[in-house]
Amino acid sequence: MIYCMYYPTKTVGKKRGTVMIYTDNAATTPISPSAAQTFTKCLNEVYGNPSSLHSIGQKAAEVLFEARQTVAQCLNCQPREIYFTSGGSEADNQAIRSAAHAGKKKGKLHIISTSVEHHAVLHTLDRLKDEGFEVQLLEVGETGLVTPQQVADAIREDTCLVSVMYANNEIGTVMPIAEIGEICRARGVTFHTDAVQAAGHLHIDVSKQNIDMLSLSGHKFHGPKGVGVLYARKGVALESLIDGGAQERGKRAGTENIPAIAAMAQALKEACSEMDEVARQETAIRDRIIQGLSEIPHSILNGDRDKRLPNNVSFCFEGIEGESLLLMLDEKGICGSSGSACTSGSLDPSHVLLAIGRIHEIAHGSLRLSLSKYNTMEEAEYIIKTVPGVVEYLRSFSPLWKDKVSGKNPFILK
Ligand SMILES: Cc1ncc(COP(=O)(O)O)c(C=O)c1O
Repeated sequence: MIYCMYYPTKTVGKKRGTVMIYTDNAATTPISPSAAQTFTKCLNEVYGNPSSLHSIGQKAAEVLFEARQTVAQCLNCQPREIYFTSGGSEADNQAIRSAAHAGKKKGKLHIISTSVEHHAVLHTLDRLKDEGFEVQLLEVGETGLVTPQQVADAIREDTCLVSVMYANNEIGTVMPIAEIGEICRARGVTFHTDAVQAAGHLHIDVSKQNIDMLSLSGHKFHGPKGVGVLYARKGVALESLIDGGAQERGKRAGTENIPAIAAMAQALKEACSEMDEVARQETAIRDRIIQGLSEIPHSILNGDRDKRLPNNVSFCFEGIEGESLLLMLDEKGICGSSGSACTSGSLDPSHVLLAIGRIHEIAHGSLRLSLSKYNTMEEAEYIIKTVPGVVEYLRSFSPLWKDKVSGKNPFILK
């Protein structure tokens, strides 16, 4: 019997003693004990406003200063290149709008991105189209990758921004961002990467990877929710989305959320220091689950087999609805997802699965399991014992499946 493995002393949503496995870490992660401790300590003890000149305010300013230094060390940049935001969405919005509007001043209205970005990027780009920008979304191959050559070929004289995510939130594909960064640097184009899903799983070095702007979100690496980071290289034009006070060097008004910022910095430091070990553990668990679920007939792995996040498992199963699968798995103590958390309320199939060539019928039968350092091999074994039975059960009363078995409707997946 597996007891709520990700937080050994607690059960979440179910009676103590029942199985509860959390594999929805791409949606959000549980806060780490050390980040939670930092958070509560700051909440209780560091209540000053960092803009106040008295000693209580200056204590808060000191905590803020240290958090900025910690984050800068993790990314290999200068503390003054770090801006704290309310999360990944805000960082994406600010980076993209800033680069676009700086480009517009020079008459550059062409933006390059990909068809598999998070909606925080895609919807921002849609807004910019209304302002007259030309947005070119690069098509991805079957595994969800864009190549550096595609980016090189797409760059024009009037390109002001390339925004390519580091790792995909649904299918886990890892993009060649260092190579893309090199091309952008050589061609004088600002390069932004949404590294929200990469942080804590993949190394980030903004200097070596030629990144001009980068977005992070605290709650994806065991930090708190509602706090994030925008890295903007010195010299890159940054505009403020929120006007008001002079916080964040005038680029993000509003009194700083000291407990959340300090806890996020602590979580990032922890994630970076244990990353290699965690990635090794996650990869072994991921591979075991992929191997087990690949044996389900008429199923397919989404994303690149090798160039993928160590914590991502994504499958499509023919003849079932992902939503029903999720609900039944939840009953059996497995918390997963059918796509990204942001679109789980929508009946539309995932734009990422459609972009990699899954047809609607197949895209509807998707399952994403995203791991963290708290998952175990024992949980992997439970998952690969449980999922096939649930898929078979759901297929047993699916009219679509019956038509396939009777030969009326051909199978799509092997
Ligand atoms: C790739 C990616 N970018 C951006 C975001 C948005 O981050 P936040 O929830 O902190 O606004 C997410 C969240 O799921 C994400 O996965």
